[in-house]
Amino acid sequence: MDILKTIKERRSIHTFKEQEVEPEIIKEIFTYGSYAPTHYMKEPWNIKLYQQKGKQKFVDAIISSYQRIGMIKKDNDPKTLHMIESMEKFLLAIPHHAVIYLKREDDPVRYEEEYAAVCAFIQNTQLAAWEYGVGMLWTITPYMHDPEFLQAIGLNSDEMQIAAVMQIGYPERVPRDKERTPIEEKMEVIVD
Ligand SMILES: Cc1cc2nc3c(=O)[nH]c(=O)nc-3n(C[C@H](O)[C@H](O)[C@H](O)COP(=O)(O)O)c2cc1C
Repeated sequence: MDILKTIKERRSIHTFKEQEVEPEIIKEIFTYGSYAPTHYMKEPWNIKLYQQKGKQKFVDAIISSYQRIGMIKKDNDPKTLHMIESMEKFLLAIPHHAVIYLKREDDPVRYEEEYAAVCAFIQNTQLAAWEYGVGMLWTITPYMHDPEFLQAIGLNSDEMQIAAVMQIGYPERVPRDKERTPIEEKMEVIVD
């Protein structure tokens, strides 16, 4: 394992093979994720993992949310029905969806500590996954802010918030390397 190589070579994956990731590997990956730094050892991350038949409930909740938000129409127009069908097919073809959520925190400092720890958890998880040949896509989407969506998946939106939804599976295709801006352009060194 070369952590530096993995950091550079990991890519966000947009197309997945049908094959599911073995439960032990999923467990290992999230376990590595949980070694993320976490102030006061709060370990604020929680996961709802949707797979197999469990995906249908999740995908139905997404589509209903998009209709409520107005991103998909509510009519029976063939165009609308086609859009729903394509979206459903696309989402159901992804082997696993992991909703990463945390407790709401009103205090802004606490909130930043906890949200930041969850992001570190997500990135650790993505890097560990890459080591196992597993790809992920970190997504942030409007339904994550729809209280009725949270309710539909069994979360109380007064108490909980969704940080991200991870799409997970073995990569069908790995995108090309994405160059980064030389860090000197983003770094100011102050010595005096
Ligand atoms: C917080 C966050 C949210 C993201 N949301 C999305 C998303 O909703 N859809 C998507 O296609 N990619 C999403 N990405 C992935 C980025 O597009 C991706 O990391 C970027 O293009 C760099 O590619 P790489 O991860 O392969 O290096 C997200 C990344 C982060 C960190």
